[in-house]
Amino acid sequence: MGCTTNNATEPSPAIAPGAEDIDPRAVALEVARRWRTGEGMAGRLQRLVPGFDAPFFQAGLAGYSDAAMRIIARRHGCPLCVTEALLDRTLLAGGRGFAKADLGEIEDNVPGGSEDHPLVGQIMGSDPAEMSAAAVKMVEQGRRTDRAYRSMAADGPQRACAEPDSRTFAAIDVNLACPVKKIARKARGGHWLAEPEGAIAILRAVRDAVPAPIPVTIKIRRSFDDTPEMVANFHRILDAAFDLGIAWATVHGRTVRQKYVGPSRWDVLREVVRAYPGCPIFTSGDVWSAEDIYRMLAYTGSCAVSVARGCIGNPWIFRQARQMMDGQEPTPPTVAEQRAVLLEHFELALALHRSMRHAELHTARAMRKFGIRFSAHHPQHEQVRRRMIEVSSLDDWRKVVDDFYRDDPSPSQTADQTRMHEGTIDG
Ligand SMILES: Cc1cc2nc3c(=O)[nH]c(=O)nc-3n(C[C@H](O)[C@H](O)[C@H](O)COP(=O)(O)O)c2cc1C
Repeated sequence: MGCTTNNATEPSPAIAPGAEDIDPRAVALEVARRWRTGEGMAGRLQRLVPGFDAPFFQAGLAGYSDAAMRIIARRHGCPLCVTEALLDRTLLAGGRGFAKADLGEIEDNVPGGSEDHPLVGQIMGSDPAEMSAAAVKMVEQGRRTDRAYRSMAADGPQRACAEPDSRTFAAIDVNLACPVKKIARKARGGHWLAEPEGAIAILRAVRDAVPAPIPVTIKIRRSFDDTPEMVANFHRILDAAFDLGIAWATVHGRTVRQKYVGPSRWDVLREVVRAYPGCPIFTSGDVWSAEDIYRMLAYTGSCAVSVARGCIGNPWIFRQARQMMDGQEPTPPTVAEQRAVLLEHFELALALHRSMRHAELHTARAMRKFGIRFSAHHPQHEQVRRRMIEVSSLDDWRKVVDDFYRDDPSPSQTADQTRMHEGTIDG
């Protein structure tokens, strides 16, 4: 139902002629200076979202970016996270749909707790009234009854009455990017790029409904496709969005038609940034390393970079980005660090799912895809990957961790593990 589609595509280099001449280390130092002194746009963004102290963030990633992944990212230096796209209808229906916003539990450092801030809540939908009621519900953290929010949606756009508390979302992001196809002939997500007036009606309703101090932002693709008509639609929406007072736009350098396949066009993103001087534009697409963050910032001139597939199973990208801001060499994770994160991530995910039936099995299945990505850092990644695919319980997970991540492997241990995997040692 959400924004999930084929994500198994190989990393593709972005289209960015000339980017090879950029020195990401020099860019990181200059960026660090601006963010530390609060100069220009960096200062403006930090005033909007206290705690947003570096020019990168973890993107919304349906099926991945839950509170467990976010907390792991934050513990590695990620200053800001975005929820996955939450459907307005699901939010208004209450129950688990709303719980997915993950701000319900605020005690004891459980997922979604006080450590999970600042957090941008992303919504997606087809109807201005439903979208604005869903946005109000997010901001108010569901303080009214589900029925009250549903009647708010039926009565048309409404301004939030309750004062948001400090633990609410740092911003409400409207998704105009998701390529998953239309539902019941109604546009949503990226399909709004083909119907700009509908997108603008939603933005107006949401901006009106959300209390003024809370930023409303958008996530949008660079166009629906490469036709001039669709490119004009993109600009129509972006012009209107900034006129309506949205705080920033995150632009993904692929078209809706492209989904996640093929390169992100950093050259087009650069033109977009140049076309909106003084407007905060964040950029997304083909960020696979800490160096890419600084290359993209310098190439496009954007104010912040969204890290998406590049941080799945790789929270160290945030540590590395921070190290570069400090003028240090970015360090890859040791096996011991990988071990710690694997155990921590599973436990956070289990805590997040604890109210579900078969919580452990559900968590284990959900963690396989992370395990596969984490395995890429291990010297025996193929063996680890194959074991991760089979995980069905916390014990299985621990067993993989114990078999492969005991220490930084000595050459003899590596040989043992290889034999074990090949079945010559009973593992
Ligand atoms: C599996 C998957 C789920 C995604 N879900 C969302 C989402 O819920 N909200 C959103 O704004 N973007 C979503 N995206 C898009 C990413 O945030 C990002 O814009 C895109 O992957 C391009 O960046 P990348 O090439 O660096 O991965 C998703 C992408 C993938 C691969």
